[in-house]
Amino acid sequence: MAELQEVHITEEKPLLPGQTPEAAKEAELAARILLDQGQTHSVETPYGSVTFTVYGTPKPKRPAIFTYHDVGLNYKTCFKPLFDFGDMQEIIKNFVRVHVEAPGMEDGAPVFPLGYQYPSLDQLADMIPAILQYLNFSTIIGVGVGAGAYILSRFALSNPDVVEGLVLINIDCNAKGWMDWAAHKLTGLTSSIPEMILGHLFSQEELSGHSELVQRYRDIIMHAPNLENIELFWNSYNNRRDLHFERRGDATLKCPVMLVVGDQAPYEDAVVECNSKLDPTKTSFLKMADSGGQPQLTQPGKLTEAFKYFVQGMGYMASSCMTRLSRSRTASLTSRASIDGGRSRTVSQSSESGTVPSGSPGHTMEVSC
Ligand code: BEZ
Repeated sequence: MAELQEVHITEEKPLLPGQTPEAAKEAELAARILLDQGQTHSVETPYGSVTFTVYGTPKPKRPAIFTYHDVGLNYKTCFKPLFDFGDMQEIIKNFVRVHVEAPGMEDGAPVFPLGYQYPSLDQLADMIPAILQYLNFSTIIGVGVGAGAYILSRFALSNPDVVEGLVLINIDCNAKGWMDWAAHKLTGLTSSIPEMILGHLFSQEELSGHSELVQRYRDIIMHAPNLENIELFWNSYNNRRDLHFERRGDATLKCPVMLVVGDQAPYEDAVVECNSKLDPTKTSFLKMADSGGQPQLTQPGKLTEAFKYFVQGMGYMASSCMTRLSRSRTASLTSRASIDGGRSRTVSQSSESGTVPSGSPGHTMEVSC
């Protein structure tokens, strides 16, 4: 198991006696490099212990970027390609990042004993305040995929003042209906748990295409030493409650939301339905072409650009910080705005366009060379 370390982070570092400003700067840089490699922590909560990894240093008056991964993945397999992406560095250097792992999903996690009661998704959401309290962080921008998107939404519903923005990839805000259960049971007769989870993460075309990426994730899941834990998380996901979003009511997300789904992804219809239930003035819906079930793995460049606009729309990155990417590339945007006034703005993005603006929800953003 990765060594757990407690790190106390302060922004203002007084000089040590006899320390020159240059030496202090060097020491600070060394500490920062260490922090940028990620420090793993664990906190106890009423539902058991939860592990999370922190990258970067807290920035005063800025939310933390807070990620939650999907079933069958951990923070690295779910988010590393996105957060390692070149153009992403310009964005994330402005934020501390906290990557949570559902219990039992962290590297080297022991298998839970037989009969262990795995937390429900609602309980996983209720573990988040302990993490924020431990880190003394008051607000976040959540980035979640699948089960992680559901958990962060549930957290945002009960802690609206803490969540400044949400990027929700492949969210399904509904509980499984009886038809889904019947299909699930039928699939269960012929498929193993890893196969069912792969079918949750990737489209059928991707699974039969045997790309290098899908093959790698198939190997990871099929040979996971903590497969029993993964199955428990999978069961919690399948037993989720309805989020009961209401477009006009208290049961809605109050913050800016960017919904993301790949076209032909397993959760395309679910995300479309979720979009129809959220406040159109706060929600952007991004359907990504050629991205399969995991846009953050297959299209990190396009998602980075969308994320940049989202964060800019929240007022955190001046447009003068525009990357090389958006200044130098001609971008075309196809926007299908609501015609009935009842739907959020949809940004469809073709593989040629390359750019996926979102940003300020409900407003058209110009992206040009
Ligand atoms: C980050 O820089 O936040 C990060 C690095 C590696 C994996 C995931 C996130």
